[in-house]
Amino acid sequence: MSKDFYDKVAKKLGGYGYGISPQYEKEFPAEDPEKIFKEKIIELSSKDKTALDIGCADGKFTLSIAPSFQKIYGIDTSKVNLGIAESHSDDGRSKNVEYSLQDASNTSFNDSFFDLAYCRRGPSYYEEYCRILKPEGYYLEIGIGEKDCTELKKIFGRGQNYGKWDRSTLDENLEELQKLGFKVIFADNFHYFEYYPSYDEFDLFLQGVPIFEDFDSEKDKKLLQKYVEKFTTDKGIQLSRHRLVMVMQKVS
Ligand SMILES: C[S@@+](CC[C@H](N)C(=O)[O-])C[C@H]1O[C@@H](n2cnc3c(N)ncnc32)[C@H](O)[C@@H]1O
Repeated sequence: MSKDFYDKVAKKLGGYGYGISPQYEKEFPAEDPEKIFKEKIIELSSKDKTALDIGCADGKFTLSIAPSFQKIYGIDTSKVNLGIAESHSDDGRSKNVEYSLQDASNTSFNDSFFDLAYCRRGPSYYEEYCRILKPEGYYLEIGIGEKDCTELKKIFGRGQNYGKWDRSTLDENLEELQKLGFKVIFADNFHYFEYYPSYDEFDLFLQGVPIFEDFDSEKDKKLLQKYVEKFTTDKGIQLSRHRLVMVMQKVS
């Protein structure tokens, strides 16, 4: 992932692309992973706890969580996104939020500083997260599963984690976290579909997310048309998504 991908997207679209897209129709054969992830954070929150949002981008999700904690710190390496997040700081809800430009692999926080840390499709530097969490503290993540957008990536012949369809990201993450001394409280995979109403809206969505970091509306037109022809349903253009949700507790 190039370091300025998220700066570029935020400059172009005024924030983190996915977040500012309209909410397209979704179909959940099981449950909505975003809903589960948020519910789990809220369940573990309290007004005397301090939390960390890792890879907070433009702070939209951070703000939605802030009322449940005493204080939330949001960190990101994208200056443009953090600038947008800061611009919401007049909002009454954001008084207990502090943003800083920091690399999640090596933060400035003291050991055992946070009661809870969460990461919503951000980077996974588990050793550092373990260091800055209190004993008994919680780490929550909603991440991208290995089967995310497989059909689309196959047609493009490239994309995020291309070709790693058969290696369970959830299992790999759990193994790494358990080695560091975390206990599994909850862990599951979620598969669902999104439906885009038109070619143009699907194209705009792809411009704002890192599925293809080098996505180019002109150069990729033929490939996108091929996908759209094959995956247009009566609900819209279908995209298969895969997410994993983990709730871990630091026990040693
Ligand atoms: C997919 S976006 C998710 C943004 C946000 N969490 C959300 O749910 O809307 C990933 C974010 O992680 C940030 N990021 C990537 N690597 C990072 C790192 N090493 N340290 C801190 N932030 C990072 C990116 O700049 C980007 O804003």
